[in-house]
Amino acid sequence: MDTTLIRFERVSKDYLADGEPVHALRELSLDVAPGQFVALMGRSGCGKSTLLNMAGAMDLPSGGRVLLDGQDTSQLDDAGLTRLRREKVGFVFQSFQLLSNLSVAENVELPLLLSGGVNARERAREALGWVELSGYETRLPHQISGGQMQRVAIARALVHAPKLLLADEPIGNLDTNTGDLILKLLRRIVTERGTTILMATHSPESVVVCDQIVRLRDGRIEAVEARQAR
Ligand SMILES: Nc1ncnc2c1ncn2[C@@H]1O[C@H](COP(=O)(O)OP(=O)(O)OP(=O)(O)O)[C@@H](O)[C@H]1O
Ligand SMILES: [Mg+2]
Repeated sequence: MDTTLIRFERVSKDYLADGEPVHALRELSLDVAPGQFVALMGRSGCGKSTLLNMAGAMDLPSGGRVLLDGQDTSQLDDAGLTRLRREKVGFVFQSFQLLSNLSVAENVELPLLLSGGVNARERAREALGWVELSGYETRLPHQISGGQMQRVAIARALVHAPKLLLADEPIGNLDTNTGDLILKLLRRIVTERGTTILMATHSPESVVVCDQIVRLRDGRIEAVEARQAR
């Protein structure tokens, strides 16, 4: 059995901005084992979002290889990448990104409907139960709080039971108490469902729920610290 869910092998990512090359990742190598909760930290522009996008097969490396559950993302065509993402990955963003004219339940069902999944309504209900939002199914996003919106977004990311959950500053828009609740929920997802989470974060308090902290600097890994999560 493969003990690595995400493998970065000397991954580079170069962008072009105003004709100038930007080296967002520089020959970065990283292995993430299944069932780990990993925090990505480092100052703005160090490459956290770039790394997440590459881990989730949203974007391809300029150099090196990214293996997601053993699949080399550079070897797949667009249809293959879409399938890999739909099967293996859920995304959570700082800005929640719910569709404002769809109800809570419809937002959570959407990924299943897009991939032709069955029992979408029932599975959405289950996912909402998981994030403790049973009873909120028919509300619209503007009728719930920010923390509740993020829980809906987490339910949407989990509804197809992905192995990997990618979170880009998931508590960046929330107050400290609400952020703590979201972090505890993410921890529970790792511990009870065995999901792997890779989370970009600026908040030092968020590392208490993580198993590992990867510190980035200027597109490279500066340090990897293991810790005892609570
Ligand atoms: N589409 C793009 N085109 C050009 N440059 C980009 C693009 N996306 C990111 N970059 C650059 O790549 C570098 C890494 O960006 P990235 O978004 O990964 O940083 P980050 O660590 O997520 O920062 P933050 O904490 O502010 O979210 C930055 O210098 C950024 O300006
Ligand atoms: Mg970012």
